[in-house]
Amino acid sequence: MCGIFGCVLQKGAVAPLIHSGLKRLEYRGYDSVGIATVFKGRIYLKKDRGKIDEVHARWNLNDLPGKMGIGHTRWATHGAPLQINAHPQVDCSGKVAVIHNGIIENFAELRDELINKNHGFVSKTDTEVIPHLIEENLKTGLDFKEAVREAVTKLEGSYAICVVYSGAPNKIISARKASPLVIGISDKGVCASSDIPTVLPLTNKIIEVNNGEIAVLSEKEVEIRRIESWERISRKPCEITWTLEMAQKQGYPHFMLKEIHEQPSRLQDGLRLQENYLNLLTTFLDRSKEIYLIACGTSYNACVAASYMFSNLCNLITHPVLASEFVEQYGNAVNIDSTILAVSQSGETADVLNAIEYARFRAATILGITNSIGSTLTRVARAYISQQSGPEIGVAATKTFTSQLMVFAQLALHLAKIRGKVSQNQMDYLTEKIQEIPALVEEIIQIQEKKIRKIAKKYKEKACFYFLGRGISTATAIEGRLKLLEIAYIPSIAYPAGESKHGPISLIEQGFPIIFVCPKDSTQKALIGNIMEMKARGGTIIAVVDESNDEIKKLADDYIEIPADIPELWTPIPYVIPLQLFAYYMAIEKGLNPDMPRNLAKSVTVL
Ligand code: AGP
Repeated sequence: MCGIFGCVLQKGAVAPLIHSGLKRLEYRGYDSVGIATVFKGRIYLKKDRGKIDEVHARWNLNDLPGKMGIGHTRWATHGAPLQINAHPQVDCSGKVAVIHNGIIENFAELRDELINKNHGFVSKTDTEVIPHLIEENLKTGLDFKEAVREAVTKLEGSYAICVVYSGAPNKIISARKASPLVIGISDKGVCASSDIPTVLPLTNKIIEVNNGEIAVLSEKEVEIRRIESWERISRKPCEITWTLEMAQKQGYPHFMLKEIHEQPSRLQDGLRLQENYLNLLTTFLDRSKEIYLIACGTSYNACVAASYMFSNLCNLITHPVLASEFVEQYGNAVNIDSTILAVSQSGETADVLNAIEYARFRAATILGITNSIGSTLTRVARAYISQQSGPEIGVAATKTFTSQLMVFAQLALHLAKIRGKVSQNQMDYLTEKIQEIPALVEEIIQIQEKKIRKIAKKYKEKACFYFLGRGISTATAIEGRLKLLEIAYIPSIAYPAGESKHGPISLIEQGFPIIFVCPKDSTQKALIGNIMEMKARGGTIIAVVDESNDEIKKLADDYIEIPADIPELWTPIPYVIPLQLFAYYMAIEKGLNPDMPRNLAKSVTVL
């Protein structure tokens, strides 16, 4: 996610304040930075790709005149990390500058409409349509705030914006839909930001801006209105007592918990993938004779789930392969007919890049799914798609796993449509249910978190856990195991439940905890058999179970309920949530820091 920060001071230079405010957003991750100020009827703007200190050394971000301005740290979602794509973005006249956090879903059609009205575009960003829309509205005689209001009513998707206009020297206009926005009020001036950390040094008096509201900031006050009705809202500031670190975690004790809770909104962003990117990747996959899904760790676990989606929906065989094993396992077989779909949140995992390099030399087609636009993976892939998770600070992957699954689900649906392997009714049902996933995840977190914490407390002394599932739930089980293992340091074993009798069941003794992932799906009957064989040997059963499944709930010693009627192939997203929370609270029970697990790095850039 990008960071936005705008400020109108009563006096003094605003650029240094914005510069230091953006520094407080660095923790979120970004690839570019920019600041624009307004002074004597002109906009002054500096921006570039790179970290804040690098760009400041290059351009001196403090050297911008005026007491009003806006600043931005960019996490690229559309358009590579280049100076031209950095924010602020401006209109043709250079009199309107905009910073934006979010995703404009209909930017392509708005861009075409504006080009037909002779607007010139210079960037590849979705954001650039906003200043041109405002420019168009100003031309019709609307005043600044109405011109912004008119513009945002045309936007579909998510946005939190700050706008400055050289014709309105003492006003910043902000608006919000689905992306966060707060206003800070102080005796020095008024500011707006996506994040409380940027506001803290100026004030701890905060006013929340709600979805569908516009805020007009001047040096001493803020006017908030409903965008639709234009009704003025009066809202009292509240005082926050957070430290800077607490503010960066938005009040959560750890980034991991914040990112688990962020999943509903990130999954919503995942449903805003650009159709053209999905179609491009789908076309490549449809033409492929053999497909390898290459990844490491959590991203590999997502690939395991994806292989069930592709085979069941598209009759497409895909091979999930651990990147570190790819060359030895399949290297000699890779050729011009091979397609590599590399999945990497960081886009920099050395094992993945090494495998890709080998495949490229053997003329394979390289595709990518990543969270990091501008990473090496995006530079070497023929085509890639952003998983739209936003920056993930916790070392343990959580929201990036579910976001990758959301991308795979949409790719599988697109491919199924091309291949006509499922009925229209089935397609409609699956498409409707995938849209419901973000709200489902929110419901699970809200309803089950307390119970999961109790279960973690109850089992915190256990020395080892099994995680078992069947079918696509095998992927959910191996991901749940990785979470517990990497942040609570508890030895855990995960495998397809049908494999138990081929060896692993020898470990079972009285009180041995087995976590079963139990959606009500085609594997139900066999899974109950696996639960019975574990119980017969004294195993303790913890089930993540469909709420309507009374039979398994009776067999379980403890269970966490998941709403019913989730299509089998979509179940890994909601069913992994309790396992993420279980691992988090087990780490807490053991007095560990879930954000910084020992021996691990967020991105493994060495072989
Ligand atoms: C997962 O929680 C770990 N952080 C690790 O397994 C990670 O998924 C793996 O290193 C792959 O990272 P990538 O997605 O950035 O390539």
